[in-house]
Amino acid sequence: MGAYLHNKMTKIISGFSKLTKEEKINWLAENYFNNNSNAITTIKQYWHDDKKLQQLHDDFIENTVSNFYLPMGVAPNFLINGTEYAIPMVTEESSVVAAASLVAKFWSTKGGFKTSVLGTTKIGQVHFMFAGKKAALDSYFNKNKTALFEATASITKNMEKRGGGILDIKLVDKTAQLENYYQLHITFETKDSMGANFINSCLEAISTEFRNDEIEIVMSILSNYVPECLVRAEVSCKIEELGVQNPQKFAEKFQQAVKIAEIEPYRAVTHNKGIMNGVDAVVLATGNDFRAVEAGVHAYAARSGSYTSLSHCTIDNGIFKFWLELPLALGTVGGITALHPLAKLSLEMLQKPSAAVLMQIIAAAGLAQNFAALRALTTKGIQHGHMKMHLQNILNQLGATQAEKDQITTFFEGKTVSHSAVVSKFKEINRC
Ligand code: MEV
Repeated sequence: MGAYLHNKMTKIISGFSKLTKEEKINWLAENYFNNNSNAITTIKQYWHDDKKLQQLHDDFIENTVSNFYLPMGVAPNFLINGTEYAIPMVTEESSVVAAASLVAKFWSTKGGFKTSVLGTTKIGQVHFMFAGKKAALDSYFNKNKTALFEATASITKNMEKRGGGILDIKLVDKTAQLENYYQLHITFETKDSMGANFINSCLEAISTEFRNDEIEIVMSILSNYVPECLVRAEVSCKIEELGVQNPQKFAEKFQQAVKIAEIEPYRAVTHNKGIMNGVDAVVLATGNDFRAVEAGVHAYAARSGSYTSLSHCTIDNGIFKFWLELPLALGTVGGITALHPLAKLSLEMLQKPSAAVLMQIIAAAGLAQNFAALRALTTKGIQHGHMKMHLQNILNQLGATQAEKDQITTFFEGKTVSHSAVVSKFKEINRC
């Protein structure tokens, strides 16, 4: 093993990142797995045979020891603004892809999803402290505003060729909330790239140009709150087309469920989590930043000061309408979108969309998921569908053969699935 500083009394280590992958794993086994060889076997089991492909994944982050697989599924039959899509989804939650597929097929016969982009701009801020007179700062800003744009010229050149760049720089006085605190609040258009690196590079160039003896820059960073990078998705149909026994009653109960999420934060969080089940799965499949999307979406849901539903529903003149609006900062170029082979494949599956088209596809996936959850919750309840998928997971955990799976699945048709009931049925079969 190569040299590294390791104090045997503690597990604190210096130079861990400099160890080879093999050495890192041995160190882990020694310190955290009692030298258990099963841990090493599990870690190595997920290495890719293709060394080049493995190296690509190793290089995405630091201290890579293995690959963490998540299932990638496909939800076909999405009709969005008249175009048909098969949507790639990466998720560990068993019912998500099945629900999206079912709902996509359902709405495909009713005109599909109607989506539109309401805005695409993003925000970055230079946060700084200034103790002098406000009027002096105003005049310094106005005198130097053009120079601030010019300071980013080499960074914005290519982005401007693609129709993007810096749209506006504003000086904002925040001293009422925090003594001496001001910002440069900057609006960006980043076209098909998510733009995090572009925005942060511009901000640092601007802050370097802007600082002087009286201006202390605290930090320069993009905001993941993107209320102006907004997309809308909608479905609608005549009440009698809702495909249930008593469509009027169903529509009303569905609308009640949405109204509850509009006024009750405990419910709204779960309601929106259901939307994010669809959103995150496509965000992940296309190599986008799900943490940024999650942060931005939930901040948007709380923009009124009270956390509320992202989706809404009306019943007017016999028409059921269900829609959502949510902010999505996405890229279809840059980041790992072209580097990760499956992210690249996902974008190809979606016919190489622009970022604006991807926003609409993802909004439709979120709305589909929300529709599926509310339809289940207001009719049969959620456990019915969930437990069907959960049953397969339990059977896999138990190491059931295909014949055992078939027999136990048939046994549980129309019955309540619970972990203990499945285990006892499995044991019963294996006793005889
Ligand atoms: C589970 O992952 C998502 C749901 O809880 C969403 C909802 O309650 O609307 C079913």
